[in-house]
Amino acid sequence: MTGDQLNVVLLGAPGSGKGTQAERVGPAFGLPHISTGDMLRAALAAGTPLGLEAKRYMEAGELVPDEVVVGIIRERLADDDARRGFLVDGFPRTLEQARALDAMLTDAGRALTDVVLIDVPEEELVQRLSGRRLCRGCGKGYHTVFDPPRQEGACNVCGGELYQRADDNEETVRNRLQVYRRQTEPLVGYYSERGVLKAVSGGGRMPDDVFADLRRVLAGGTST
Ligand code: AP5
Repeated sequence: MTGDQLNVVLLGAPGSGKGTQAERVGPAFGLPHISTGDMLRAALAAGTPLGLEAKRYMEAGELVPDEVVVGIIRERLADDDARRGFLVDGFPRTLEQARALDAMLTDAGRALTDVVLIDVPEEELVQRLSGRRLCRGCGKGYHTVFDPPRQEGACNVCGGELYQRADDNEETVRNRLQVYRRQTEPLVGYYSERGVLKAVSGGGRMPDDVFADLRRVLAGGTST
């Protein structure tokens, strides 16, 4: 049974700060951070059949087929560390994925407790994504203007080299935003009807301020 578990989905457009907030929320609430984007990029880097299949979709900013990502999540949620709660980022992204997640949780006697939408105006998203940098060593995220590393090009935590994601060029970013509006935004209504949707305002605010709202909302407070 779900009991006092937190089974959380972070919902939001590309660049809304899902990964940035998951780095804070996961440790604060003791939840494993499960990101389909990170898992697909790891498969790509390792050259697995899954990674090779996902590559062309990711590079074009299109969604990887539902059955592929649903299979990944089904396996990951069955791992020991996810049985007592989880924080999923980047999934579900279509109504079909949302229905599949509901069905797999119901089968396990569980349910989503919170779907938190991080709401950011569209004009901020392109600026955020074009300045995003990631560490090759530990994966920590930075922004050239909003959250720069202490030493240019090097990670504060492990000293690793910082790089730009292949899908963070402007043309692909614009397509990712269109795909979000068309295929993922309908989930706002889906989860609102089911009474699990919450929202925090993520635009024009520092990551730690957004996190303070997320922490409050997950502890049972009202949306911002
Ligand atoms: P994925 O990796 O999930 O990418 P995304 O959803 O496009 O989200 P991002 O990682 O780009 O943004 P984010 O919201 O995590 O923002 P971040 O915190 O980094 O997916 C990539 C691809 O994989 C998809 O296009 C698709 O092909 C495939 N895929 C993945 N899941 C799938 C699924 N379920 N189904 C089908 N296909 C799937 O922040 C962005 C930048 O802004 C950073 O530089 C950060 O430092 C900065 N920032 C964050 N917060 C703030 C703030 N408050 N103020 C200023 N700057 C900030």
